[in-house]
Amino acid sequence: MKKILKCYVYLLIIILVGCHAETKKETNKTTIEYTFEAEIDSLIDLMTLEEKIGQMNQYNGFWDATGPVPKSDELAALKYEHLKKGLVGSMLNIKGVKQVKALQKIAVEETRLGIPLIFGFDVIHGYKTIGPIPLAEAASWDLEVIKKAAQNAAEETAASGINWTFAPMVDISRDARWGRVMEGAGEDPYLGSKIGVARVKGFQGDDLASPKTIAACAKHFAAYGFAEAGRDYNTADIGTSTLYNVVFPPFKAVTEAGVRTFMNSFNLLNDIPATGNEFLQRGVLKKEWNFNGFIVSDWGSIAEMIPHGYAKDIKHAAELAANAGSDMDMESSAYVAELANLVKEGKVDEKLIDDAAKRILGVKFELGLFDDPYRYCNEENEKNIVGKKEFHEDALDIAKKSIVLLKNENNLLPLQKEKQKIAVIGALANDKTSPLGSWRLAGDDGTAVSVLEGLQQYKENTLTYAKGADVVTQDSKVDFVFELKLNERDTSGFSEAVKVAKASDVVIMVLGEHGYQSGEARSRINIDLPGVQQDLLEAIYKVNKNIVLVLTNGRPLAITWADKHIPAIVEVWQLGVQNGNAIAQVLYGDYNPSGKLPMTFPRSVGQIPIYYNYKNTGRPYGENSDVVFWSHYSDESNRPLYPFGHGLSYTTFSYKNLKINTLAERKIIVSLDVTNTGTVKGKEVSQLYIQDKVASLARPVRELKGFEMVELESKETKTIEFTLTEKELGFYTNKGEFVIEPGEFNVFVGGSSNTTLSGEFILE
Ligand code: BGC
Repeated sequence: MKKILKCYVYLLIIILVGCHAETKKETNKTTIEYTFEAEIDSLIDLMTLEEKIGQMNQYNGFWDATGPVPKSDELAALKYEHLKKGLVGSMLNIKGVKQVKALQKIAVEETRLGIPLIFGFDVIHGYKTIGPIPLAEAASWDLEVIKKAAQNAAEETAASGINWTFAPMVDISRDARWGRVMEGAGEDPYLGSKIGVARVKGFQGDDLASPKTIAACAKHFAAYGFAEAGRDYNTADIGTSTLYNVVFPPFKAVTEAGVRTFMNSFNLLNDIPATGNEFLQRGVLKKEWNFNGFIVSDWGSIAEMIPHGYAKDIKHAAELAANAGSDMDMESSAYVAELANLVKEGKVDEKLIDDAAKRILGVKFELGLFDDPYRYCNEENEKNIVGKKEFHEDALDIAKKSIVLLKNENNLLPLQKEKQKIAVIGALANDKTSPLGSWRLAGDDGTAVSVLEGLQQYKENTLTYAKGADVVTQDSKVDFVFELKLNERDTSGFSEAVKVAKASDVVIMVLGEHGYQSGEARSRINIDLPGVQQDLLEAIYKVNKNIVLVLTNGRPLAITWADKHIPAIVEVWQLGVQNGNAIAQVLYGDYNPSGKLPMTFPRSVGQIPIYYNYKNTGRPYGENSDVVFWSHYSDESNRPLYPFGHGLSYTTFSYKNLKINTLAERKIIVSLDVTNTGTVKGKEVSQLYIQDKVASLARPVRELKGFEMVELESKETKTIEFTLTEKELGFYTNKGEFVIEPGEFNVFVGGSSNTTLSGEFILE
């Protein structure tokens, strides 16, 4: 009987998918439109309540899928039972075709309806071929290469059997203490939107059913990046204007770009957990933005509503999350255990269950899983595609473009290629794992090219390496969890490093954070050089001032001393497998750096939150700055160490001839000339900011509204043009309404957010 039913389901689906184009128009009967409306409806009609709820249940990998189920592990056994009964819709953290295939086989062959699973994985910056961390990629401001990186990651992931990534993270954050800033695109909603869209397009392509694309997931909805005090998972308390004008834009942009899934978040937003937040999920996302994909909870976030003090028990949590619009339960087991009873008791309407199941099935149809549940499971493909050469070449390209030259006094960089004695100092110079960052679930430790290895390829100079000091003294791995103990004391390697530095022409110091000092749950209260690295830097500076500081880290660092004393500073973030190659090419000038900061670098942790698009106080800097009573600190400047958008090149650029043209229909054309005034070819990211001078809500002093990358030969000039439309000129009110208000605007154009070239226009 079971077999006959399953055959019937598949036959029905094949017929429906076959005549899909014709049926689409006639079946548009629900308010939300699905691409596979008829197929979904027919399937839903065959499903029991429990099976529909099963689609809403997601489990983490629970045993070696290709081996026997461990009988001793009760939870694993229960999950296995659920899988066989069709009570699981998705799994996460399953790696590789063999395992995916084994689990898919159970879903397809052993359950009543044979509905395939969707497999999710955190492909954050590459699957096996780990690329630069997302914050680094964002520093490239190069949407094409960011898209390409996501495209490659999708191809590699799909070849491993997985069809869904939990990326991109589009959380805006203004707090460098928060460890997850490494995972996003920084502090700006405009840049964040463009990058989010590039990533979604890269992952999903034009055809989700292609074996080279995977479904993307916009996370974490919403305001997760506004965790109080930068402590991960903490409360976010923000007003409507900030929510609509700063937090929402990237989420809205990726929805418009067709992102197929969303993940909600762990945090409270204005005292309601995002996971149980109806305003966010049903109101904004599903209704206002008409999102027809599905929302997955964050890991266990449904159950976490209990300690939040919002749900009294797991049943209550399931009720709140389902009613609020959370479609899939990641690892709380709340839906599978409680939802059927809640429906029977009338606490959750079955229509909501249907809606959630339809959304999930819709994405499975789009992925082509009903055509062929093993579409992503070809072992030959896996062998040929995972880790292929082209992915490494592209990873090198994006790595070079992610590097930001923060300071370069007396043109210490690029290094000369001639019989120079170079000292390389710092444990991170010889680290082949930290450059992979903290999201490297399928990557292999020790596979990054270290800075030392990169530099060793330049044979014209002599290199001597001295570690100086470790960053951490303990780095123990328990599953995916690393415990770090910072080296706060051991300076025994200093004397050797000092000796090497003394005998060298140039010292390259590679300092910063261990790979697991940023990422989830890795918040820091000090964002300086960890351990004894600052002492090491100062000790070397005493004997040799020709220092190039190569900073490697997953967040902005407060390196105020270094900025004052060290002549050359290069921000290299964590650049993935091609790390050392990219850094060496930039240090030697084979690639002229073009990166710009996507996040403000503070002078001190006490300035946080610090961001370029702040609003003026009633007592801003300038007017009464000679007296005490203006908005400032008594022990530090208000200014950042390096502003948003900052980044130097081995050449220089000048901006001239700013012209502003106001056209009909509130279109503003801003044009200007950019000249390469230096001696070598270079690339510059020209940025345009506006300020709405007087509005019904106070507007930021500057807001990025356009950027363009220009490549110029020495002495070459190009005219560039930006177009501002209502979309860029308007803003959201405290009621969440978008308005465009007439009045005076300032325009600023240049190579960073503190550019002084400005003009103005009046919006009629
Ligand atoms: C993170 C998510 C991630 C999920 C699955 C959670 O702890 O917050 O971003 O996708 O785990 O690994």
